[in-house]
Amino acid sequence: MIESILSALIEPALLLDAGGRVTIANPAAQDRLGVWVIGRSYVSVLRQPALLGPVEDAYAKGVTGTARFTHTTGEVDTIFRVTVSPLAGVDGRRHVLLVFRDLSEAYAGESMRRDFVANVSHELKTPLTAVSGFIETLQGPARSDAAARERFLGLMAKEVTRMNRLVGDLLSLSRLEGQSRKRPTERLDLSALVGEALSTLRPGAEAMGVTLEAEVPPEAIAPGDRDQLTQVLTNLVENGIKYGAHPGSVRVAITAVAREPVIKGPAWRITVTDAGGGIPPEHVPRLTERFYRVDTGRSREQGGTGLGLAIVKHIVNRHRGRLRIESTVGQGTEISVTLPAEAGRRSG
Ligand SMILES: Nc1ncnc2c1ncn2[C@@H]1O[C@H](COP(=O)(O)OP(=O)(O)OP(=O)(O)O)[C@@H](O)[C@H]1O
Ligand SMILES: [Mg+2]
Repeated sequence: MIESILSALIEPALLLDAGGRVTIANPAAQDRLGVWVIGRSYVSVLRQPALLGPVEDAYAKGVTGTARFTHTTGEVDTIFRVTVSPLAGVDGRRHVLLVFRDLSEAYAGESMRRDFVANVSHELKTPLTAVSGFIETLQGPARSDAAARERFLGLMAKEVTRMNRLVGDLLSLSRLEGQSRKRPTERLDLSALVGEALSTLRPGAEAMGVTLEAEVPPEAIAPGDRDQLTQVLTNLVENGIKYGAHPGSVRVAITAVAREPVIKGPAWRITVTDAGGGIPPEHVPRLTERFYRVDTGRSREQGGTGLGLAIVKHIVNRHRGRLRIESTVGQGTEISVTLPAEAGRRSG
């Protein structure tokens, strides 16, 4: 009876008999701790003093306790909170039940949140410090210097624009997280969308010596969210402009994919290519992390926040699409977004 109850538990659980041996290790415990624990004494299984105390108390005093237990396999540490409870055994003697709850995920979430807050604060602090510096100068030494005032106001406007962008990007990220399960349904022409995005970006690109080229079919219809896909195109093309070659060109192409294996159906692939310095391979897997930048100084100088690709990734996920980044140092970068061409069936 107790064996089948323990098998039904998702958490690893061990039952110790009156002699302190493991009589039952449920499947989760066998999975996480190993099959070898069955029949062993709890002292050799648990080893950590923090946990041995509560087990001894459960046997001696019949009290329930909890303890933290770190289990190491290879390079990975798993942290468990273990509940230790005395039980009356069928033999009339005291048995002890240990139930393990995995805390690692909660910890990982916690530390991600901490990093995120630290990053946001830092990103805001830099422009704020700059702006307060300018205000001080304007109140003091530059008070009656018209030329300096003009220059400082310009610099302040730039910093404020950056803070505004940062806050805007953070808001879009949190909105996206909220709707990640809701698939967009509007039918869009991706070719037209590319055309519109490129005309908006062209003046800025040309000012930097970059020409924008499109190679798209007359029509590429797919379900999508217009504003969000425009945001994707804008960030990818802006990245190509910022980090590509000067002078140079950024090319946006749309090709049809008859059957994308992961999407399991027809798809459109939008590819943005530049011939810039490229991205060293060790950075590529991390580019979609929030605030991750290869060269923070260079990105900041261009008003970047390092949130662009994190937003792109979220939007692509919401569209059930795929994002691929391919880059060769010294040759350039090709980023492709593959989107389902048809609205998904039920599962979406
Ligand atoms: N086409 C590219 N060529 C070289 N490096 C790139 C390219 N696209 C992105 N990167 C690198 O990836 C980093 C992250 O890009 P992302 O778009 O997330 O941020 P950003 O462009 O710096 O800031 P934001 O998009 O918020 O303006 C960039 O800082 C840059 O180092
Ligand atoms: Mg960007």
